[in-house]
Amino acid sequence: MKAPKYVSKTLFIVIFFQFLLHSCKSDDGYISIESEDEEISTELSVLISDYFGNSIDFNGLANYENQEIPAYITKDNTAANVITDEKATLGRILFYDKNLSVDNTISCASCHQQAFAFGDQVAVSQGVNGATGRHSMRLINSRFSDEVRFFWDERAATLEQQTTQPIQDHAEMGFSGQDGDPSLNDLLAKLADTEYYPVIFEHVYGDLQITETRLQESIAQFIRSIQSFDSRFDQGLSQTNNINQNFPNFTTQENQGKRLFMDPPNQGGAGCMGCHRAPEFDIDPRSLNNGVIGVFGDISVTDEKVTRAPTLRDVFGPNGLLNGNLMHDAGKASMIEVVEHYNAIDATGNTNLDPRLRGDPGQNGQQLNLTETEMEAIEFFMKTLTGNDVYANEKWSNPFLSN
Ligand code: HEC
Ligand code: HEC
Repeated sequence: MKAPKYVSKTLFIVIFFQFLLHSCKSDDGYISIESEDEEISTELSVLISDYFGNSIDFNGLANYENQEIPAYITKDNTAANVITDEKATLGRILFYDKNLSVDNTISCASCHQQAFAFGDQVAVSQGVNGATGRHSMRLINSRFSDEVRFFWDERAATLEQQTTQPIQDHAEMGFSGQDGDPSLNDLLAKLADTEYYPVIFEHVYGDLQITETRLQESIAQFIRSIQSFDSRFDQGLSQTNNINQNFPNFTTQENQGKRLFMDPPNQGGAGCMGCHRAPEFDIDPRSLNNGVIGVFGDISVTDEKVTRAPTLRDVFGPNGLLNGNLMHDAGKASMIEVVEHYNAIDATGNTNLDPRLRGDPGQNGQQLNLTETEMEAIEFFMKTLTGNDVYANEKWSNPFLSN
């Protein structure tokens, strides 16, 4: 029996569509003809190229989630918020977006600059309504610490909680919700009103909701992704697998500095390792105050609350210069000044001074009696902790075409 005409017509149409489907298959075999997804991804890719050019590509994201971490790096404060390429990319956009400040002039990156290990060269940074009270902190390797609390005085219980506090700080970004400032909810509404965030949030989270939790999650993922492990110290440690051994790629002075950094004061060392623990060089969570109690711009008050430091990696930049003055009050302009401080601590009036820095009985603070050569050796060693990639890698750079 001859098939009716419509059957062959239908057959033709089916074959034609299969051909269409086939020709729309992308490299990874994903069929992108599906109606709704297709619209979103076109809208997304047009918006992405409008705002970010080629620096962001949701079809080929930069690697944040599977970066190589040396086996000797074991500390990690990630907890439940495991890095994904998509959320870290959203975090990167938020980190560099001046829309996060009330007058669209300041982003996180204004005070945390890639060129300076995500710190700031000036002693105090300028926000939308004036200066910060303390020196900006470098953000590299924030992930790799036992200490889970953040800020110089550890007032943020987690990195997640930290990330939306600068936004709500009157001086820094201005969404405090107090004294006439708009609130964080106003910021969330502002972001929902941009052209790009609703589309990006829908792509990353599956719906349009822009919430504080999502900002915290994605910004924290971006910050935790910023890692620096290509220093000469890392080369030496990978070669020897033994931090106590002299590193073959170090000079005599650098090896001397390493030993002084690591050995406790009662064994002729400077005891730095007790609080800044290699190989992460993260702060010992039990550390109390280190004797630096200055307040920027006001000598009549003191600040004994500081018990945290960022990692001591990348204190120097690849050019051998400091990425910024040191300590919370930016009071130390060189590594030698830092070592001089530890060499002769003045405990006067400091009830929060760490017991390790109190010195022997009868002393008003630790006296290390380091020679000038020994101080220099520590400085040389500190310079071996600097990488290159973190300053140059585009995945941590500003993705905005204009910002
Ligand atoms: C106006 C300058 C400024 C801006 C803008 C700013 N920060 Fe900071 N940041 C600082 C200063 C100053 C500190 C130290 C403050 C303190 O401890 O009291 C700091 C500390 C931090 C820390 C703690 C690091 C550590 O090791 O404890 C993190 C994380 C951080 N900022 C992330 C951000 C993020 C995310 C944004 C944007 C949402 C941001 N900052 C915006 C100046 C700024
Ligand atoms: C008892 C714990 C302790 C010991 C021991 C210690 N530090 Fe610190 N260190 C800290 C704390 C806490 C801070 C943050 C202090 C501040 O900014 O006021 C800090 C800050 C620093 C900073 C500034 C970091 C920055 O980002 O500005 C450097 C550099 C430093 N220490 C180097 C050393 C060296 C070198 C030694 C050994 C000679 C040493 N530390 C010994 C606790 C310690």
